[in-house]
Amino acid sequence: MTVPIAIIGTGIAGLSAAQALHSAGHPVHLFDKSHGSGGRMSSKRSDAGVLDMGAQYFTARDRRFVEIVQQWQANGHVAVWTPQLYNYHAGRLSPSPDEQTRWVGNPRMSAITRAMRGDLPVTFSCRITEVYRGKHHWSLQDADGVTHGPFSHVVIALPAPQATTLLAAAPKLASIVAGVKMDPTWAVALAFETPLQTPMEGCFVQDSPLDWLARNRSKPGRASNLDTWVLHATSDWSKQHLDLSKEDVIEQLHGAFAELVDCAMPAPAFTLAHRWLYARPAGAHEWGSLSDPDLGVYVCGDWCLSGRVEGAWLSGQEAARRLLEHLE
Ligand code: FAD
Ligand code: NAI
Repeated sequence: MTVPIAIIGTGIAGLSAAQALHSAGHPVHLFDKSHGSGGRMSSKRSDAGVLDMGAQYFTARDRRFVEIVQQWQANGHVAVWTPQLYNYHAGRLSPSPDEQTRWVGNPRMSAITRAMRGDLPVTFSCRITEVYRGKHHWSLQDADGVTHGPFSHVVIALPAPQATTLLAAAPKLASIVAGVKMDPTWAVALAFETPLQTPMEGCFVQDSPLDWLARNRSKPGRASNLDTWVLHATSDWSKQHLDLSKEDVIEQLHGAFAELVDCAMPAPAFTLAHRWLYARPAGAHEWGSLSDPDLGVYVCGDWCLSGRVEGAWLSGQEAARRLLEHLE
């Protein structure tokens, strides 16, 4: 039997690598510490319906990504979202329409990674704590002390700080990845019984604790009895308030929303806060992916490229390409 390739992380980068390796005829086995796939593209089921707390939408600029997004569209897993966009700058809110195509998972962001996963073998609720090499093969140890393996290669598809902790056996890679900093984002969802009297469905925000807000229920497939909104704080605000309680984060970001929106702001009927510790890379990199082919270790993730959904998918493809190239 062929020894499979281990892939740690079932965000879009890990799944992109998994699909490419599987299509090339190589068995893979995926691991994720969460109970489901999607990572920062996952969606939260709640009393106010399904909420996109992480990635809000994505754009497709690279030809290869455009092609795959068109396939997802044909299969019904993504749809175009055409929000009434606004911009908030220097205390003024103004409409800010544009021609950009913005995609969302349909009926929720996680529909994309759910479809990518298909029947690929995954072990969920399994936090990998160590990656080590035996005489011929790789093994993984998880937080419960269970060993998984053997594996021919390892693909690590995690935010850089989490990847660094698994790279003890690949010190050259570890020293590069350890230099990548990632910033947090506090995300808050609010739902109102009476719809807010504003046509706004998305807003790019400057000069505020917020940097983005969206009317979640304006996205395809997210109908809700409540008027649902998702607010994202800036990296700076999130860093400064990293350990604030969820209640206080909700209160402060609700206040910032009330300050910028051009209508009355009732008390929300439902609130939720989520802290993304490693939301986005603090700087830009153009690595595609990183690897130590002689060892058989490959690292990918959004931080290897643009820090966006498209960059994460491309990075997974690049890790798989490098691995396959080395096998030839
Ligand atoms: P992730 O999605 O982070 O996947 C990593 C996976 O690894 C996770 O599932 C995690 O559970 C798992 N994991 C971590 N450690 C371990 C371990 N030790 N063992 C096992 N599993 C582990 N991008 C856009 O293009 N447009 C946007 O509008 C946008 N908005 C965003 C808003 C927010 C608040 C955030 C947080 C991100 C946003 N992004 C956006 C970025 C986008 O979500 C990411 O670029 C992309 O989803 C990253 O995918 P990934 O596979 O590289 O990593
Ligand atoms: P995009 O092209 O829609 O936006 C890129 C940037 O251009 C925006 O951040 C905004 O500053 C500006 N912009 C675009 N359209 C605008 C308009 N109509 N009016 C005013 N400003 C406009 O999408 P792209 O390039 O795919 O970027 C993805 C988005 O995801 C970005 O907004 C980025 O900030 C966000 N993101 C957020 C993360 C987080 O942790 N909060 C992590 C990663 C990405």
